[in-house]
Amino acid sequence: MKVIIVKDYEEASHKACEIMLDVIKNNPSANLGLATGSTPIRLYELMREDHKTNGTSYKQIKSFNLDEYFGLDQSHPQSYHYFMCQNLFNELDIDMNNVHVPKGNGDIDEECKAYNQLLEENPIDIQLLGIGSNGHIGFNEPGTAFDSVTHKVDLKQSTIEDNARLFFNGKIEDVPTQAVSMGIANIMNAKKVLLIASGEGKAKAIQATVEGPKTTEVPASALQDHPDCILIVDEAAATLL
Ligand code: GLP
Repeated sequence: MKVIIVKDYEEASHKACEIMLDVIKNNPSANLGLATGSTPIRLYELMREDHKTNGTSYKQIKSFNLDEYFGLDQSHPQSYHYFMCQNLFNELDIDMNNVHVPKGNGDIDEECKAYNQLLEENPIDIQLLGIGSNGHIGFNEPGTAFDSVTHKVDLKQSTIEDNARLFFNGKIEDVPTQAVSMGIANIMNAKKVLLIASGEGKAKAIQATVEGPKTTEVPASALQDHPDCILIVDEAAATLL
């Protein structure tokens, strides 16, 4: 695991953008594993700016998102699908047929199976990750098996509370209590993993991920075994390292 400590969120986003664009430039038909949450918002903005100014093309790129809330249609303004369109896809030249976000409704078992199959057929070149304050990656909460694949998840109360801030205008009662998420094994299969952590709220999770024992209680600690994993951590999130 390579840990890069940067000054702040802005610097973390620029560094992450550099790494993402490097992958895309070396392989214009790369498969990108993408994440939601507040952390990647500035990175996505920088990718949009780069597309506009430098013309980096996404025509051949395929994208695969980590997760989606259960029970929300793709068109729901609080769905992760909608979030991705607003924050990234709408301003790129990506073919929407190449955009994949797990579906949070319909026959979930079938959807999980289909998503796993899709990931097997399209190995991810770079998987972007944020991290939950409890160490979760995607929506893989503490206790999730390291060999898990795409599955339906019961969200922890702390995650529901954390996410109410960004989604649902802070109304906890409106936040779905379940989600569909790539499993830890799917994430570990990516050729490269890029995790961004910003702010002191992530300091404990980062310490446990980097220095703690490998344990399902800290899902991100599985990344200790990944052969090409980069953590971009700002000074606030690195205070306990
Ligand atoms: C959600 C997402 C995760 C994300 C996490 C952290 O739980 N499913 O993929 O990493 O939030 O969010 P934030 O970046 O807003 O701190």
